Amino acid sequence: MAVSSAAERALALAGEKGGRVSLILVETPANPTNSLVDLALMREISERIGARQAGGRPPVAVDNTFLGPVFQRPLEHGADLALYSLTKYVGGHSDLVAGGVVGSRAMMTPVRALRGALGTQLDAHTAWMIMRSMETLSLRMHRSAENAAQVAEFLRAHPKVAAVNYLGFLRDGDAGAEVFRRQCDSPGSTFSFSIRGGEAEAFRLLDALQVIKLAVSLGGTETLMSHPASTTHSGVPKATRDRLGVTDAVIRISVGIENAADLIADLTQSLAAV
Ligand SMILES: Cc1ncc(COP(=O)(O)O)c(C=O)c1O
Repeated sequence: MAVSSAAERALALAGEKGGRVSLILVETPANPTNSLVDLALMREISERIGARQAGGRPPVAVDNTFLGPVFQRPLEHGADLALYSLTKYVGGHSDLVAGGVVGSRAMMTPVRALRGALGTQLDAHTAWMIMRSMETLSLRMHRSAENAAQVAEFLRAHPKVAAVNYLGFLRDGDAGAEVFRRQCDSPGSTFSFSIRGGEAEAFRLLDALQVIKLAVSLGGTETLMSHPASTTHSGVPKATRDRLGVTDAVIRISVGIENAADLIADLTQSLAAV
């Protein structure tokens, strides 16, 4: 039922615009709420649309930046293309800017052709840095995920923290729990939490950090924290942000590979300043 109504809605919207559904693009887990999209369901919706429109089904493209190729492999779950900001976990050292896309030869042929025409090939030095980074990708992601589990537990128990959007806390019956079990190999290390209060309290915490850095990137060896409502999501109307759970009280954390005790000590002292 959900499949056919989603497919019908997409077809109706495309029809209103006088076109066809040409791509299904999702981000899972989503930034910064960690809400999950069921990729097998997206594939079913794509097939359903393909049976109803001329020109075949829309490819399913997945931004897999948050869990990376180590903890989630979208192509095994029905997606056609996996997209990466290589700037984040794959690069891993906050010293390069790059993007990547992975898919079957048939899917990649037009992507390669367009890249060649536009001239967006990566420069040789950045490509070399990515190859260097890939040697430690699995080590970094596993260590960051272990640290994140400890940091998330600490935050959940803290009286000044209202909620923690950490995938490791999903329980049977929670929205997304079944998708997480089927699709993801780890909760990863980027998640968000809500401080009791609002923007003023969030800013007090962020201003008091001493070890953790205040910056909007993620996936590096160093732990970063940011305030999505005033930075990455400031272009989204407040009513929409609030509806999606990106309130002024939400803080995002990308946990790195440092000593977890140092991170928890920094959060202890910065929460005391709120
Ligand atoms: C999930 C996700 N996808 C894509 C991007 C874009 O990355 P880049 O700045 O490397 O183009 C970002 C971050 O900016 C991100 O968090």
